[in-house]
Amino acid sequence: MSFLDLAQTRYATKRYNPAKPIPPGKIEELKQILRLAPSSINCQPWKFTFVQDPELKAKLAAVSMYNEHKIQDAPLLIVFQVVQDLEVFEDFARNEWEERMAEMFFQAREALSEAQIQGWFTLQVYIALGFCLAACASLELDATPMEGIEKEKYAELLGCTSHHPVLAVCVGYRADDDFNDPARQPKIRRALEVVVESR
Ligand SMILES: Cc1cc2nc3c(=O)[nH]c(=O)nc-3n(C[C@H](O)[C@H](O)[C@H](O)COP(=O)(O)O)c2cc1C
Repeated sequence: MSFLDLAQTRYATKRYNPAKPIPPGKIEELKQILRLAPSSINCQPWKFTFVQDPELKAKLAAVSMYNEHKIQDAPLLIVFQVVQDLEVFEDFARNEWEERMAEMFFQAREALSEAQIQGWFTLQVYIALGFCLAACASLELDATPMEGIEKEKYAELLGCTSHHPVLAVCVGYRADDDFNDPARQPKIRRALEVVVESR
C-alpha cells in the first residue's frame, strides 16, 4: 500500500476487538521502529513503556478519562514518556553521546530555561507519536493516540522516576462495529489548498 493509501485508511480507533491479539513479532517490530524515531540533534529524550499485562492495563484504563474502554479492549498500550530529570539527561549527554551532539546540547542548555528545554524535549515525543502511528498503519495495526490520560496517576502506577508520561497509544484491531471506521465515517480534513500552499 502507498503511504497516501495508508494515510487515507488509518484512523483513530474508538472501539477495539478484545478477542484479537497482536502477533508478538509485530510488537517487537514496533519497539525497534520507535527506537529509530528521529529527534532534534538526536537527543532521544524519551522512554516508551509497552503495557500488555491485563491487570496493569486495567489500572491505567481506569485513569484515562473517556479512553477507558479503548485501553481495556486493546491488547497493547504504549505510554510515551519524556525525560524529566535533566541531570539524568545531562549524564547521558556527557557519557554516551557523540561529542559534537553533546556540545550542541550544552550550548542550547545554557541559552534556554529548564521549562524551555522540557518543552523542546516534549516536542520530540510528539515526533515519535507520528512515527508510531505511521508504523502501526504499515504493520496493519489499528491505533489511537491519546492525550486524554491522567499523567500523574500514570506516573504513580508505572513507578516513573526520571521520566514522565506525555501521552499514550492504544494498539490492536478495530471492532466490527467501530463507528469511527473510515468505511462508515469519512475522514474530516480541511481543504488541501487551505493547509498547503505552493509558491
Ligand atoms: C496528540 C493527539 C491526542 C489525541 N487524543 C485523543 C484521545 O485522548 N482520545 C481519542 O479518542 N482520540 C484522540 N486523538 C485522536 C484525534 O481526535 C484524531 O486523530 C483526529 O480527530 C483525526 O482523526 P483520524 O486520526 O481518525 O484521522 C488524539 C490525536 C492526537 C494527534
